[in-house]
Amino acid sequence: MTSDPRLIVPLDLETRSDAEAMVACLDEAVSFYKIGLQLFATEGMALAASLKSAGKSVFLDWKLHDIGATVERATAAIVATGTCDLLTVHAEPQVMAAAVRGRGAERSAKILGVTVLTSLSEADLVALGYGLTIPDLVARRIRQAVEAGADGVVASPQEATLARQIGGPDFLVVTPGIRPQGAALDDQARAATPAMALRAGASHLVCGRPITAAAAPRTKALEIIHEMAQA
Ligand code: C5P
Repeated sequence: MTSDPRLIVPLDLETRSDAEAMVACLDEAVSFYKIGLQLFATEGMALAASLKSAGKSVFLDWKLHDIGATVERATAAIVATGTCDLLTVHAEPQVMAAAVRGRGAERSAKILGVTVLTSLSEADLVALGYGLTIPDLVARRIRQAVEAGADGVVASPQEATLARQIGGPDFLVVTPGIRPQGAALDDQARAATPAMALRAGASHLVCGRPITAAAAPRTKALEIIHEMAQA
């Protein structure tokens, strides 16, 4: 069995060399990697370039959030490096519209909106001054992502069905919180198995520690790909 392009493995590791060792270990089993803010601060873009030159797809999870002009220029600069297949921004209308302008007409990079951070509780939303519940704010932001021309959203498995309904068949629904059957939940409060998330409407799965913390990461990735095929 080979890689499944719907499986994205986050390289939530301390250094570029740790990340490259994991990529070498996973070898042909994984073709899509996510780089987050931890590596961004050091060698994230260099790592992205080396992944691209190895033929991998790259998800830059930078979660941009600034005035439109800045987001537009930042997105254009990121896309010009040629290292980005997916880029996240916060799912506010101005921010998403700016990122869509910044990535340009050739659409080589896809823009994903991060709807509501899963670390936020209903009480946190009240404290922030929002008058909506989390599900209502998530639904509103998915609609706003569609209106802004974003390519998709990051959504929990529980929100994937709604995102698919609102976004339609071509909308990207990228789902973290994936745990294979019988795996430890770590800090994921609302996890789903690979097949459950795909059946709910996910287009891509982000699955990290079940693979990267496994004794045999490549074998674990292949098991997850097998579970994905059951969806
Ligand atoms: O190791 P694990 O599979 O929990 O990693 C999930 C990845 O998805 C991490 O990089 C984490 O930052 C990210 N993520 C998440 N929950 C969200 C959004 C992103 O776990 N709501």
